[in-house]
Amino acid sequence: MKNLNEKVAHFFNKPSYKDATKRTEKAKILEDAYEIPVNMVNAGKGKTFHIRTYGCQSNERDTETMGGILETLGYTWIPELEKADVAILNTCAIRENAENKVFGQIGWLKPLKKERPDMIIGVCGCMAQEEGVVQRILSKHPEVDLIFGTHNIHMLPTYLESAMFSKKTIVNVWSKEGDVVENLPVTRKSKIKAYVNIMFGCDHFCTYCIVPYTRGKERSRVMKDIVNEVIELKEEGYKEVTLLGQNVNSWAKDLDSDDKFSDLLDAVAKTEIERIRFTTSNPWNFTDELINVITNNKNIMPHIHLPAQSGNNTVLRRMARRNTVEEYLEIIRKIRIASPNIAISTDLIVGFPGETQAQFEDTLKLYKEVKYDTAYTFIYSKRENTPAMRFKDVVTLAEKSANLQTLNELVKKYSKENNEKWIGKTVDVLVEGPSKRNENILSGYSPQWKVVNFPNNENKDIIGKIIKVKITEAKRFSLNGELI
Ligand code: 5AD
Ligand code: SF4
Repeated sequence: MKNLNEKVAHFFNKPSYKDATKRTEKAKILEDAYEIPVNMVNAGKGKTFHIRTYGCQSNERDTETMGGILETLGYTWIPELEKADVAILNTCAIRENAENKVFGQIGWLKPLKKERPDMIIGVCGCMAQEEGVVQRILSKHPEVDLIFGTHNIHMLPTYLESAMFSKKTIVNVWSKEGDVVENLPVTRKSKIKAYVNIMFGCDHFCTYCIVPYTRGKERSRVMKDIVNEVIELKEEGYKEVTLLGQNVNSWAKDLDSDDKFSDLLDAVAKTEIERIRFTTSNPWNFTDELINVITNNKNIMPHIHLPAQSGNNTVLRRMARRNTVEEYLEIIRKIRIASPNIAISTDLIVGFPGETQAQFEDTLKLYKEVKYDTAYTFIYSKRENTPAMRFKDVVTLAEKSANLQTLNELVKKYSKENNEKWIGKTVDVLVEGPSKRNENILSGYSPQWKVVNFPNNENKDIIGKIIKVKITEAKRFSLNGELI
């Protein structure tokens, strides 16, 4: 039995910001890096696991891989983290409040670990890539048995074996630039829509953002592997794929290939899977070809998420974004000319250090000009080791919070106005299941990524199907309608 008070760390590999910043080695495509140690074959028989996921779709997709790995070891998923034999927290580092939630959860697991010392508690994901976080876990949370990072989830069986047989906290976080590991097991959460990674990492180093350090350099999967995954999903009956990457427009820049993201998107469209989405695009390398491919393929959904972050050029420059507001607006103008009904959403940061009140007002101005369908808005959060953490603030936190509220009022206003345009129209809805609030109401997404709720009066078997719904009412963040 492990004595929590005496527990020490065994470092196989520590996180290192110095290594995480490097961008020199070319990524390798590893086809057979995943293996199961002899002792772990069937090690999970009769045992359970739960993975709690924080943060973005990349983490959700990683959780599906880890779930697939654990199931191949014989473990069974259960819905309760606290009852599981293996409890893993797949963490997010993007803002401080995401991290606080994880630390709260770890603390909450401590008494359970005392009651059931054989329970394995693992922490992985972006927080595990942070030097400070690993130090904090090791000094304050001996209940954690295993810490591993975003680059080596394929090694989970080996790490689990070490954690099961060691009295120490196993730390194995790679900060090297990372490779692309193919052929990993996966247990997908949905049978209707699926995430497909097209690239990993980010080379942009926006000054506020921790992702380039936690997710490593940009490395792309090859077109053949991506397209084959989509074909398989289609054959399994999936209706929608979302192509994932921090910067999908940069896809293949690191490969020995002339292909661009527009070529990939076109190839994925040719698989004739019913719906294709992608995230995240940024306002650079957003080419005319890309706009053409989006508008010329009916199965590429008319919704673009295009983070602006700020409506002021000085702030954008200090954020190390690569575009001006004018360039951003030019992309929006071209997209709307090509596809007038396209929905556009964005990410915006309020209170970037040094942002003045007048500069914040430029963000409001941008919002009013684009009239976004929706937006994710955040107060700037200081991130360990990023350049912006050393920039000075010129407004108080109270002012930032008030500004966020003002911006959120605009988000609500334009979301409602955009939704109202759909009243009386008939839209295709991919039905996902009963709505969260009412079992008798079904819910799904329209092509423009709007949540559509409608009563299933005729009790039709339509979950997982694309059906026609006539919109009767517009809410702020959803539409109501009726089956036709
Ligand atoms: N503080 C606040 N928001 C951030 N984002 C990224 N880093 C930070 C930070 N330090 C936001 C950006 C990005 C989204 C995923 O999260 O808007 O587009
Ligand atoms: Fe972060 Fe900028 Fe990379 Fe997006 S493009 S992940 S905001 S560094």
